[in-house]
Amino acid sequence: MSDSVRNSQKRIKLFLPGPVEVLPEILEAQTGWMIGHRMPEALELIGRIKPKLQQVFLTEQRVLFQSGTGSGFWEAAIRCAVDKKVLHCTSGAFSEKWVKVTDAVGKDHDVLEFEWGQPVLPEPIIEKLKTGEYDALAVVHNETSTGVTNPIQDIAAAVRSLPNGQDIMILVDSVSGLSGAELRFDDWDLDMAFCSSQKAFAMPPGLAMCAVSERVMEKAKTLKGRGYYWDIVTLAKSYDTDQTPNTTPLPMLYALDVQLDRMLEEGIANRFARHIAQRDYVIAEGNKRGFELYGHPDYSSPCVTNFANTLDIDISALNKFLRTKEMILSNGYGAKLKNKAFRISHMGDIYESDLAELFAAIDEFLGEGASG
Ligand SMILES: Cc1ncc(COP(=O)(O)O)c(C=O)c1O
Repeated sequence: MSDSVRNSQKRIKLFLPGPVEVLPEILEAQTGWMIGHRMPEALELIGRIKPKLQQVFLTEQRVLFQSGTGSGFWEAAIRCAVDKKVLHCTSGAFSEKWVKVTDAVGKDHDVLEFEWGQPVLPEPIIEKLKTGEYDALAVVHNETSTGVTNPIQDIAAAVRSLPNGQDIMILVDSVSGLSGAELRFDDWDLDMAFCSSQKAFAMPPGLAMCAVSERVMEKAKTLKGRGYYWDIVTLAKSYDTDQTPNTTPLPMLYALDVQLDRMLEEGIANRFARHIAQRDYVIAEGNKRGFELYGHPDYSSPCVTNFANTLDIDISALNKFLRTKEMILSNGYGAKLKNKAFRISHMGDIYESDLAELFAAIDEFLGEGASG
């Protein structure tokens, strides 16, 4: 049944920064028989997944998960970790969207704006945090709209070196980074770091995962208005008994179980290195054809490359052409970057051979001699 449904669809190789390519074996893993989510088999499944997730997040603390997407943990982070005021750092579309969530939740906040395409750097953050006004910092690890990865390790080290550094919750959106761009939850002493399954985890959309520190768990217990579905205290209570508070998203967990095995077999350090190598390959191939990076070259994302449309090509026409080759890439994000930039995702289960196929197709579109 699943085969016939899938076979009736055309497969289009996704060079989009989510949803990304998903391997057939991961899709197949989802089709396991249903079980009751309080049956021992479900508890065993969660018990098996937990330590593997910890290895990928590089933490010995909890990695919570919930059916839904990463945006849920945007809200959870604000509701469960902020009491006084949160400092948001913005440098692209997603960091700006997170501010809207904080607005919607009604928590006090300030915004420290960095130019789109530039990295979020520690110094101005520290100047703001020194005022003692804030008890949380919200920062995006991998800004999917600009293709820039922010130096979370340096930011976190600078925050912790402040006299009040331990009282500031470091909340990291690594929605399109985690497992592709290096993130070391315990070593970097973070409080929340979350991601979505449809990004570097290379799974279908539908599962959000979030590492939480003991520090944030203790703080959350003292806060009112944590909400219901994304309350980390509720999620942690169930997690500790190998369960979920609501019905377990079993197909997602079947897929996660298999995908985590694949990730650990590759080795997390090797996985980070592969993503960097793929980024370097994409940048070099793009540069050869005359495309320049949109963002700061020293902070290029290992997961997605954002090229400025320096050749002034018709990106919609390029994608129309790529569709005939059963591929698609991503136009620039939003009104600000549409047709001015385009993105090639190289995260998860996209490999250099796939990227080579993409560049060969781009060459066909550009015409002979355009490949430099
Ligand atoms: C950096 C970043 N944060 C948050 C989101 C929202 O994630 P989701 O659509 O999984 O809720 C995205 C989606 O692309 C993203 O790239």
